Amino acid sequence: MRKFILLALGCADAYNNGVARKPPLGWQTWCSAGPCGTDHCFDYQIKDTAKAMVDNGMKAAGYEWIILDDCWHPRRDSNGTLVPHAAFFPDGMMPVIDYVHSLGLKFGLYTSVGTTTCHGGWSPGSLGHFEEDANLFAGWGVDYVKIDYCGKDDSPEGHKNFSRALNATGRPIVLELCRGPYQEQADWGYAPSIAQVWRATGDHHDKFSSTLEQVEAMSRPSIYIPGEGGSGPYGWAYGDMMMTGGEGCFPYDPKVPQHCPKQTDAEYRTEVSLYAVLGSPMMVGTDIRNMTAIMTQLLLDPTMLRINQDEEAKIGEKISTCGGTDAWVRHLTGGDVAIALPNLGDDAATLKVCATDVGVSATEFTAMEVWTRKSLTPSAAGDYSIAVASHDTALLYLSPRNDAAA
Ligand code: GLA
Repeated sequence: MRKFILLALGCADAYNNGVARKPPLGWQTWCSAGPCGTDHCFDYQIKDTAKAMVDNGMKAAGYEWIILDDCWHPRRDSNGTLVPHAAFFPDGMMPVIDYVHSLGLKFGLYTSVGTTTCHGGWSPGSLGHFEEDANLFAGWGVDYVKIDYCGKDDSPEGHKNFSRALNATGRPIVLELCRGPYQEQADWGYAPSIAQVWRATGDHHDKFSSTLEQVEAMSRPSIYIPGEGGSGPYGWAYGDMMMTGGEGCFPYDPKVPQHCPKQTDAEYRTEVSLYAVLGSPMMVGTDIRNMTAIMTQLLLDPTMLRINQDEEAKIGEKISTCGGTDAWVRHLTGGDVAIALPNLGDDAATLKVCATDVGVSATEFTAMEVWTRKSLTPSAAGDYSIAVASHDTALLYLSPRNDAAA
């Protein structure tokens, strides 16, 4: 049986079993059908969603994950084996997993480190069954496991033991540890050495205050250190699923994809811009069977994705520029720079970023705003000014003048 090793990456140690070199991009079930707890979890919904990911251009843009959250497994059988929900998966899990794989996509499942899962404890957790569950998942061809932190006897030791059990299966599986916000948990420094994704935030919801909480949690200096919680190749601080385009409607028809957005288009632009610059995994938590105009604009934008999926994956960080504006800045491979300038105020504002604060000489760079594709001309002093609507975000992309990319 193959054992994986921890590979040193620069000065940071990330758990490298060959998967999740870049932040995972995909879709997940939790909250996807409406208020959290009303998930898409029928086999036909999962298949339709996977098909939609191919047909709507997401797969071609780089999205590849279909992840089932806390919805799929109500019990164990008399042998202790997890059993998929009979009404949701009348033919078991394999036809769904095989279908997802046949489309060239990858498949993930959810469990918990304690005795039960998190949604009212309706489902068995993996405690006492780590090896058994890891082997079941690997045997089914699962590519990603999210392990939550609920039920009795949840513990960091459990996370570590579950990681060992997954590792021992010999199948390269992405492990997501869900126990956020990262910085507030005792003994949480172990995440990058045993998993590829860890929750840097509490649960996200479809409201702007929640988007701001995610960004704030992802912007704390303590998660900027690769190896200790900061993102880098094979290890990603995660802002939870994205609610871009709006949660589902309630009550809902499982066959009719609908959105009942609780944020404005501008607010979704802020969500996506910040997730891109901070290099967070992007798991869409809304119904991609119905791509609204704002979902298409934001989720498929090639420059936004290039920022999020940057090759070298240096961490983006929050800085203060021009004596007061908060800017989220990411230095990209080849010398390009991405800058998110959110306007969190209730009125439109002109925001300013000073080139020297982001380490560039304005005369040597071209600049454009990603969402409008408009180029920006710096002032003689080397600052860029841009009008930004309330709760919207300007996403600037700077390239060295001799760089034809972007
Ligand atoms: C917790 C997690 C969520 C989701 C639910 C499922 O709240 O943080 O992401 O997995 O459990 O019950």
